[in-house]
Amino acid sequence: MMTPNSTPLLLCILIFSAALSELLFNPDDNVQLLDVASFESALSEPTSGKLVHFFNGFCEDSQRFIPAFRNVSRKLYKWRRVLKVHVLDCGKDENDKICGSFSIRKTPTLRYFPPSYKRVPEDLGIEITNRNPKEIESKLALNLQNLSYFKMFKPQDNVTHIFENHKHVEYVVFVYQMCLNHFLPHLETGNSMEEKYASQDDCNADNPVVSVIGRNTLLELLPYKEVVVRIFDDHDIYNKFGISPVPNLLVVVNRARKLLFLTPEMDNSKAYVAAIKQFLIFVDRKPQKPLPKTAVANISEVLRYQIFEQHAQHPTRIYRADLERAINQILNVELSRTSHFVGTKLVVLRNFVRLIYNSSPLKTEAQEKLAGLYYSLRAKKQLSGVGFKDLLLKSVKDYEFDGKQFVGCIASRPLLRGFNCSLWLLFHYLSVESEKLKPRSVLLVFLGYVRFFMSCRECDMKLGEFKKLRPIGNVSNNDEQILWLWEAHNYVNKLLAGDSTEDPKFPKIQFPSESDCPNCRNNQSEWRNDEVLKYLKAMYALKNLSWFGMSSAKSDSEIQRYATTSTL
Ligand SMILES: Cc1cc2nc3c(=O)[nH]c(=O)nc-3n(C[C@H](O)[C@H](O)[C@H](O)COP(=O)(O)OP(=O)(O)OC[C@H]3O[C@@H](n4cnc5c(N)ncnc54)[C@H](O)[C@@H]3O)c2cc1C
Ligand SMILES: *[C@@H]1O[C@H](CO)[C@@H](O)[C@H](O)[C@H]1NC(C)=O
Ligand SMILES: *[C@@H]1O[C@H](CO)[C@@H](O)[C@H](O)[C@H]1NC(C)=O
Ligand SMILES: *[C@@H]1O[C@H](CO)[C@@H](O)[C@H](O)[C@H]1NC(C)=O
Ligand SMILES: *[C@@H]1O[C@H](CO)[C@@H](O)[C@H](O)[C@H]1NC(C)=O
Ligand SMILES: *[C@@H]1O[C@H](CO)[C@@H](O)[C@H](O)[C@H]1NC(C)=O
Ligand SMILES: *[C@@H]1O[C@H](CO)[C@@H](O)[C@H](O)[C@H]1NC(C)=O
Ligand SMILES: *[C@@H]1O[C@H](CO)[C@@H](O)[C@H](O)[C@H]1NC(C)=O
Ligand SMILES: *[C@@H]1O[C@H](CO)[C@@H](O)[C@H](O)[C@H]1NC(C)=O
Repeated sequence: MMTPNSTPLLLCILIFSAALSELLFNPDDNVQLLDVASFESALSEPTSGKLVHFFNGFCEDSQRFIPAFRNVSRKLYKWRRVLKVHVLDCGKDENDKICGSFSIRKTPTLRYFPPSYKRVPEDLGIEITNRNPKEIESKLALNLQNLSYFKMFKPQDNVTHIFENHKHVEYVVFVYQMCLNHFLPHLETGNSMEEKYASQDDCNADNPVVSVIGRNTLLELLPYKEVVVRIFDDHDIYNKFGISPVPNLLVVVNRARKLLFLTPEMDNSKAYVAAIKQFLIFVDRKPQKPLPKTAVANISEVLRYQIFEQHAQHPTRIYRADLERAINQILNVELSRTSHFVGTKLVVLRNFVRLIYNSSPLKTEAQEKLAGLYYSLRAKKQLSGVGFKDLLLKSVKDYEFDGKQFVGCIASRPLLRGFNCSLWLLFHYLSVESEKLKPRSVLLVFLGYVRFFMSCRECDMKLGEFKKLRPIGNVSNNDEQILWLWEAHNYVNKLLAGDSTEDPKFPKIQFPSESDCPNCRNNQSEWRNDEVLKYLKAMYALKNLSWFGMSSAKSDSEIQRYATTSTL
């Protein structure tokens, strides 16, 4: 039930979120968001190189790089005739397969893909590891110079097809450049040492790659759609235009095949570009319009919006991030409030740790650490709170919990849901994934946890009431254990429905809802336990957990653990 004044607030949040649909990457910043449906066709496009930024908004490294990448993509707008900039969200479940098949092991990852790219295992794109905008540009320039657009103009070539195939082209600018090997003064490099070496190596008779001055001149003039730049290294080309060779470095040819000779003041691309631009001003040609001004996205707000969007699309999905947060908070916050572990308290603590390491939703490396913690605990007759913290520090301290944010347990207002919600999810998960343990072992830990560590008297009392209705001695196998916890949760839901602790966006229902599981009730609206059990087992199964909201990329073992049917 909703309190009367909760509705306006809810509306507020929704409207606010919708206005935010400006996502992490704005198309007006010269980036196109790809997804599982568009990825391959975008990369197979035949005319441009592609820069793809694989990201995960929940990963801190990715978050840090987003503003810098925005600068990069905006700068690369000048090259849009030869380069497309794309982003792919590896945080989304539906993109798992792409990110897996491209071996994206961390985010952010930048890769360059040539035109007409088709995925083959031995070529997954060219990695750009540098995060410095200038270095990224420089690495891209090295790859772009391989496009046919940059090929040397040869005596057998002619300008006719350039003008015919490109109606907007009015001028072809010829840049005379020889290979570095032959003509040392042309010692212009791009921005990096790598480029310097590459340009020295690449320029030879077998591989007539353009010189860096020619290439940079070409790149700088891409914003003028009326202009095509061609590089040549053979003065005999002039014969094609019916004139004898001249020593000029720059020649402009118009559609009427009239020639204009330009003389740059110095032998570097800056001077070449300046000379050509001066001509373009004279004939009143302007570069493409700049990008519109855009606002910088507030990452935390966008992520919040995306979590709600994810909920809307997948209302019953269970998120690994919530389970991680629950475990993290239980170990590092909730249990650490206890000043003395002895007797049943110590037993509950030990059994909790054992349960977590047996049926862990955590990464494989956590298993070992938790086992270590369990064995240290087993040796203790009693333990002070400080003693526990020490053990924890020794065994699991350097474990990185990758669920930093509540996803399924996100709240529409502060102080609601969050940890309490994730605690329920964790125990439902454990009940489903503990088939191999003795019946009741999960329930005993749950009851003990609520009694000793939850610091919520009324919670323990409610559970006590339910225990009287459904004695746990009657639970004789794992299926009954799963159903006991489900029923207990519904018992609490019923008592709390309409309470001030209820999040209006996540009303307390008798779970699962009729619409989410039509088979779970019979025609008299009575539960059909066998169907409920089936539903819970599918929903809470380890292999059905969503990775959305995790800051890490899946490792190979996890990809296998979670393997779904088809591969890309
Ligand atoms: C034993 C216990 C007693 C509690 N008593 C109180 C109390 O007295 N007062 C109080 O304010 N809070 C109490 N809480 C906290 C309360 O139950 C909720 O956890 C909290 O209000 C957050 O609610 P939520 O909307 O996130 O949904 P939650 O009830 O926390 O549920 C989390 C998620 O579990 C799933 N779920 C819901 N029902 C079921 C079910 N039956 N079976 C399987 N999955 C289900 C849904 O996906 C739901 O979103 C208690 C918690 C526990 C563990
Ligand atoms: C982006 O570019 C602007 C303007 O050049 C600069 O002030 C800002 O520091 C850059 N931001 C990042 C994260 O590189
Ligand atoms: C350019 O293309 C050639 C031949 O296709 C290839 O061998 C070379 O590796 C490419 N260079 C770059 C930087 O992509
Ligand atoms: C120009 O080149 C095209 C192919 O690039 C060729 O088909 C055409 O015959 C050439 N024209 C002249 C006049 O050389
Ligand atoms: C982003 O939004 C959050 C919540 O609205 C706010 O607290 C934070 O200051 C904002 N950050 C920036 C950089 O604007
Ligand atoms: C969990 O719920 C109880 C009861 O409403 C509340 O007292 C407690 O603060 C909640 N704990 C957290 C961490 O939100
Ligand atoms: C518990 O089990 C006993 C024996 O199987 C049965 O008689 C009793 O009704 C059960 N109690 C509840 C509350 O289900
Ligand atoms: C419920 O009723 C419909 C007809 O109203 C019937 O077809 C169906 O079999 C019934 N289902 C159950 C579970 O009894
Ligand atoms: C995962 O759980 C959802 C319900 O949340 C269910 O619809 C789906 O079939 C489950 N998937 C698998 C593989 O069990």
